[in-house]
Amino acid sequence: MNIGIDKIGFYTPDQYVDMEKLAEKRGVEPAKYTIGIGQERMAVAPLHEDAVSMAANAALSILDDDDREKIDFVLFGSESGVDHSKSGAVWVHHLTDIQENARSIELKQACYGATAGLKMAMGHVALNPDSKALVLGSDIAKYGLNTPGEPTQGAGAVAMVISSNPRLMALDNDSAAMTKDISDFWRPLYSDYAFVDGKFSNESYLSFLKEVWEKYKEKTDRELNDFEAICFHLPYTKMAKKALLSLTENAPEEDAERLMGHYQNSITYNKQVGNVYTGSLYLSMLSLLEQSEELPEGSRIGLFSYGSGAVGEFFSGVIQPGYKAYLNKDTHESLLNSRQELSLDEYEELLEKSLPKDGSDIETNSEKMNKGKAYLTAIQDNIRKYEVK
Ligand code: COA
Repeated sequence: MNIGIDKIGFYTPDQYVDMEKLAEKRGVEPAKYTIGIGQERMAVAPLHEDAVSMAANAALSILDDDDREKIDFVLFGSESGVDHSKSGAVWVHHLTDIQENARSIELKQACYGATAGLKMAMGHVALNPDSKALVLGSDIAKYGLNTPGEPTQGAGAVAMVISSNPRLMALDNDSAAMTKDISDFWRPLYSDYAFVDGKFSNESYLSFLKEVWEKYKEKTDRELNDFEAICFHLPYTKMAKKALLSLTENAPEEDAERLMGHYQNSITYNKQVGNVYTGSLYLSMLSLLEQSEELPEGSRIGLFSYGSGAVGEFFSGVIQPGYKAYLNKDTHESLLNSRQELSLDEYEELLEKSLPKDGSDIETNSEKMNKGKAYLTAIQDNIRKYEVK
């Protein structure tokens, strides 16, 4: 029985900062941000959008009544959780109207959380072939103003329905994972901003990739020529180029050319959004599926997930016949193209704003509501209130 990704949806807030303008303000050559880092626009979340509402919006864009009836496991991967106890999955379960007899949990391991969800969802569907699972990756990436990480911020969510006989991609059940306790990127409980040792993080990412790829090859006997394309976790889009160059260093030219040939399509969406942490790999995969001409039916796509701290995994999936009919390219392009540009003053003010941390009540500004349906309306008596428009 094939198990894998039956549907995939995406959501990002409807405001962004232009990276060339940000570079000018920071006294940096714009090409450093647009080419050196590879980002053109960066999504910024207003106060009424958080990891929960963005995940709900991504899910609402794909779920139908059959999904709502059959989903009995909601797995919410995030490193921007909004409560130390209650999982974001419980709110998303409610906001998306999924039937009650379901498990709902949150998973955390930096940008790896959604991959953990995907793997657990596969196991669940293997044991319960009539069930479906909803896997979410939703985050707001914040490093702070005037920091080296500033141009690699972003906000957004990906939602995937995992089922048997999936219509987009059947996932292979033979992956290679690795865990090592390192401090390349982390966010202490008190801080809204992530801490990162950027150069070390890049090195760790690449060394994890090398090790899990070698392990994957050993386990599966597959080589680069078994892959039509490879998608990577993207803290910024240049990372995929570094990763591809490292994987193809001694590869036959035709493999290197074919894999590099898919690079632009696999970064198109991420370039417009920035880092969405847990969702970044899946946003890249979505970008590849929607922006490429039809990929050969039955071709294999490699996927590399990396969550600082750190856990990495190389896994793969096979493109299903007729998959193009189940994508929403126009919706996603229009979501990205109809956003409003923030002035740099507006961006700076917004980035430094946060919800009260002293237990006081707040109502969010409903005049600036987004295109998404779900949003945070208020915090009252320390309880977060969400609504679906
Ligand atoms: N034109 C084109 N490219 C330029 C340039 C210009 N004018 N100026 C600089 N560059 C290139 C540099 O050569 C470098 O490319 P390389 O990485 O291929 O060598 C790139 O732009 C970045 O320059 P660098 O000086 O390394 O930038 P930085 O010290 O400001 O830091 C990051 C960049 C990515 C390390 C930093 O933004 C960061 O830490 N981000 C967070 C990363 C992260 O999220 N990690 C955790 C998850 S994996």
